Amino acid sequence: MLVLVTGGTGFIGSHTCVELLNSGYEVIILDNLVNSKREVVDRIAQITGKRPLFYEADATDETAVDLIFSTHPIDGVIHFAGLKAVGESVQMPLAYYKNNLLSTIVLMENCVKYGVQRFVFSSSATVYGENQVPFVETMELRPRTNPYGETKAMCERILTDAASIHPELSVSLLRYFNPVGAHESGLIGEAPQGIPNNLMPYITQVAKGILPELQVFGNDYPTPDGTGVRDYIHVVDLAEGHLAALEQVGPGVHIYNLGTGRGTSVLELISAFEEANSIRIPYRIVGRRPGDVAECYADVSKAHAELGWTAKRGVYEMCRDAWRFEKNQG
Ligand code: NAD
Ligand code: UD1
Repeated sequence: MLVLVTGGTGFIGSHTCVELLNSGYEVIILDNLVNSKREVVDRIAQITGKRPLFYEADATDETAVDLIFSTHPIDGVIHFAGLKAVGESVQMPLAYYKNNLLSTIVLMENCVKYGVQRFVFSSSATVYGENQVPFVETMELRPRTNPYGETKAMCERILTDAASIHPELSVSLLRYFNPVGAHESGLIGEAPQGIPNNLMPYITQVAKGILPELQVFGNDYPTPDGTGVRDYIHVVDLAEGHLAALEQVGPGVHIYNLGTGRGTSVLELISAFEEANSIRIPYRIVGRRPGDVAECYADVSKAHAELGWTAKRGVYEMCRDAWRFEKNQG
């Protein structure tokens, strides 16, 4: 089975390529390298012993995408390519809508044109917004008011509408919670450009001495220790969830939360990191970050019941593997 992985040199895409190749799939990566490096293809080959075909191209480029579909007998698409920085999306809304929506439309048009029936889309827990935890797939969506979150909700809608008039399509909308960690080889992981926005990459850069201390955004939330609670999921577990969806989902639109179902506070994650890696993380409590919710964690029973998938790795492994990758960086 041949799978087109857009965004395949990115953080989640690269780990999914590894799992696909290790499970006997053939893989084509399409990535414009706006937020990743070509060397990731070499790393994937080093880990798996198999080299995916790589196209440096933009998923919004109709000609380039059509050429790939017309050249290769693609069986399924996993669409990771997208811009994902919430703050940047507020500053550059048109770029976010254009990139995230147009790429999804162009890919789905080509699936319809070339008879490719399996489509897996990277959505986000951000679409639940201010709902009550744990988040369940049937909840009404309330994406937070930033363009990034809106693009995810809009792409879900676009794909659902397309599937309604193409009943042969199998569309999986995977709502990721907080992906962290790295492959245990330490060869691929999350490598944000500039100062990280997200907690785990910030912690690993403090651990390395690149940044002096972590700022904890608020300790007055209605949570057990007052700091924000999230459902961190090891990126390899997340990658495995994609294979489960690709293999087991039948025709129609299927929505799955991919998380662990467990909430971890900022202070708990710091402690886990310190314990797993024997490194102290200096931190300071500061004000809340605008737009943050107090708690975000998944009800994961649907993915377990229908896909037979459950996250296996805990916070200890997430911290250990994230640090191993960061240490390996130049
Ligand atoms: P990433 O930035 O590491 O990977 C995305 C990849 O897509 C990058 O390699 C980038 O170069 C590529 N890309 C972007 N626009 C492109 C385009 N138009 N054409 C071709 N390539 C393009 O991000 P990630 O963390 O691996 O996220 C993958 C997907 O999962 C994204 O859609 C993101 O919105 C979604 N997601 C991520 C998180 C998270 O916390 N990491 C959470 C929920 C959802
Ligand atoms: C971020 C995104 C969200 C995306 C999610 C999953 C923002 C505003 N939101 O949210 O759209 O779906 O990732 O990847 O970027 N924290 C600190 N100090 C820091 C960084 C974070 O205390 O330097 C806290 C936050 O307040 C939060 C927790 O750590 O309570 C996790 O933050 P982060 O990793 O940014 O993830 P989300 O807030 O879930």
